[in-house]
Amino acid sequence: MVKICCIGAGYVGGPTMAMIALKCPNIQVVVVDISKPRIAAWNSADLPIYEPGLDEVVKACRDKNLFFSTDVEKHVAEADIVFVSVNTPTKTRGLGAGKAADLTYWESAARMIADVSKSDKIVVEKSTVPVKTAEAIEKILTQNNDKGINFQILSNPEFLAEGTAIEDLAKPDRVLIGGRETPGGRKAVEALKAVYAHWVPEDRILTTNLWSAELSKLAANAFLAQRISSINAMSALCESTGANVSEVAYAVGKDSRIGPKFLNASVGFGGSCFQKDILNLVYICECNGLPEVAHYWKQVVQINDYQKTRFVKRVVSSMFNTVSGKKIAILGFAFKKDTGDTRETPAIDVCHGLLGDKALLSIYDPQVTEDQMKRDLAMNKFDWDHPQHLQPQSPTAFKQVSVVWDAYEATKDAHAVCIITEWDEFKKLDYQRIYDNMQKPAFIFDGRNVLDVEALRKIGFVVYSIGKPLDPWVKDLQVSI
Ligand code: NAI
Repeated sequence: MVKICCIGAGYVGGPTMAMIALKCPNIQVVVVDISKPRIAAWNSADLPIYEPGLDEVVKACRDKNLFFSTDVEKHVAEADIVFVSVNTPTKTRGLGAGKAADLTYWESAARMIADVSKSDKIVVEKSTVPVKTAEAIEKILTQNNDKGINFQILSNPEFLAEGTAIEDLAKPDRVLIGGRETPGGRKAVEALKAVYAHWVPEDRILTTNLWSAELSKLAANAFLAQRISSINAMSALCESTGANVSEVAYAVGKDSRIGPKFLNASVGFGGSCFQKDILNLVYICECNGLPEVAHYWKQVVQINDYQKTRFVKRVVSSMFNTVSGKKIAILGFAFKKDTGDTRETPAIDVCHGLLGDKALLSIYDPQVTEDQMKRDLAMNKFDWDHPQHLQPQSPTAFKQVSVVWDAYEATKDAHAVCIITEWDEFKKLDYQRIYDNMQKPAFIFDGRNVLDVEALRKIGFVVYSIGKPLDPWVKDLQVSI
């Protein structure tokens, strides 16, 4: 029986390994992590991450051919294929701080693999890493092992999207495997290909050289984020000109060369990957003497920051230029619907902006706990993946924040409602009831374009929806945005 071990039981390691276990009953899969609470949660009824369909997959295989363990060294030593799916956050200090990928976790995993291995292994980069990381990993593995073990390094970046991870894993657009162009490298590529071939059609399994695979992941995320920043940049122009961004996106997306996906204007993209991976790409371009290319991609992140700031400015300027002491309901905190993940969620920047203007926030999200929200609001930029840098919570900021478990409670007596995550339930709320219980004028700022603007205006709301023709009220009060 082939044995697979995955280091890192996070948003990628957990679901990807569960899918391999489900589709390959003849393979034993063990997911290991240094975090005891995370492994305990994977072994419980309450999984550590929320992902539609994940519970069923895990239940079908756990304790049969899928195991979760903190005994990292034992399972790595026994495995034929070791996936490394540890976090690769943005560096917060030192050379490349704020841009470069922090490979501390990766390097420590690689050194441990070298230490404990007693048999040949295929080591698979599952984490998103800078191009040429495989070369560094190869050196660490070979130079720290004197037992003559043969290590083959493969790059197999993950393209799943949170919220649809199980669907994406079951029917991937493509699986990408990069390896060395040597007999040993090609054999390793074939071995990993055979795992995916249990359920992925062969024409969807792409094989490339190592550097192409590593760079393709960064490029794919940069292209996806670029589409969002492009439509968001258009949304600002739509508001100034009276065009409607949804109509523009529809018309543009009908061009088969462009396509309709990923063209929804919003308060901005979030999540653990887009910003981190683009900044990493920017850093790699700079290091390779390509400042123009670096500058080009950096704009994608800058437009995203602009969009979040623009949203906050719109809220404050519409509400007579002051939100001080006013209750504002924040509906949604996760970075997108169908996940509880809050890493780099635009909610953090919007909340910080409003708290800076002394608003009182009442936040509701169906999947994010109060503890998580308060931890996020207390953190400095980029610190979320470096638990050791957590700042002590600022008591003043938290006097201004309450977290509730119901959208009606959040909006009661509020002056304004901000939709930050596109949860389906926000479309179905009784907005007449919400309006009746709010202060007047009652404002709605739809940061996801999920609400029916005309219906809300009929009820009496003053409505702002990203990139849509401005409510006369908002237009009259707008400052320079
Ligand atoms: P995560 O933070 O959820 O999980 C990483 C896990 O690795 C943590 O549980 C941590 O305790 C563990 N870990 C760190 N060092 C370890 C070590 N030495 N030994 C054992 N365990 C260790 O991160 P996530 O979201 O799963 O991301 C992992 C990688 O996959 C990142 O490089 C990310 O960029 C990439 N990725 C993430 C996607 C996503 O949607 N979250 C999608 C595609 C790629």
